[in-house]
Amino acid sequence: MYLTLLTIHSWLRWVLLAVLLFALVRSLMGWLSKTPYTKIDNLAGVLSIAFAHTQLVLGLVLYFVSDSGYPAIAKFGMGVMKDSNLRKWSVEHITMMVVAIVLVQVGRSLSKKQATDEGKHKRMATFLIIALALIALGIPAERLGLFRF
Ligand code: HEM
Repeated sequence: MYLTLLTIHSWLRWVLLAVLLFALVRSLMGWLSKTPYTKIDNLAGVLSIAFAHTQLVLGLVLYFVSDSGYPAIAKFGMGVMKDSNLRKWSVEHITMMVVAIVLVQVGRSLSKKQATDEGKHKRMATFLIIALALIALGIPAERLGLFRF
């Protein structure tokens, strides 16, 4: 179960990354070239939320079945902060990813509330840039380019 979840979570990162980058390119182009907010931009937003939330749910389940997740905190308590590998997964990864996913959600919600198309693109682009930076920082370097089979 652990390995299956980890493999799905690992692969889904590439799908999420592709969707978020697509949404970012669309919103940046729309913002800078002042093009209209179209159905494709809306779809990019919907897909960003859908995949981000799926990754969140998978991550949460993984967090409770991985020895490096909550079980590590249950076993070692604050001791996890002294072990960089345990800290990475039980504290840092979850925190940065949850914040990143919240930012994608907030960006989408604020974007929808904007009266102008330029405003919609701008909100989405701004929040996606910060969320993508956090996602890049939240995956430990040794697993960044990994393709798990
Ligand atoms: C933007 C969302 C996320 C991305 C892109 C992401 C990405 C990743 C990647 C690339 C790995 C390493 C997979 C591998 O070794 O092949 C991983 C592992 C893991 N992630 Fe996430 N993650 C995200 C969100 C979350 C969230 C929200 C949680 C917890 C609530 C979480 C919990 C975990 C756990 C527990 C592991 C396994 C560590 C281990 O046992 O080695 N992830 N994640």
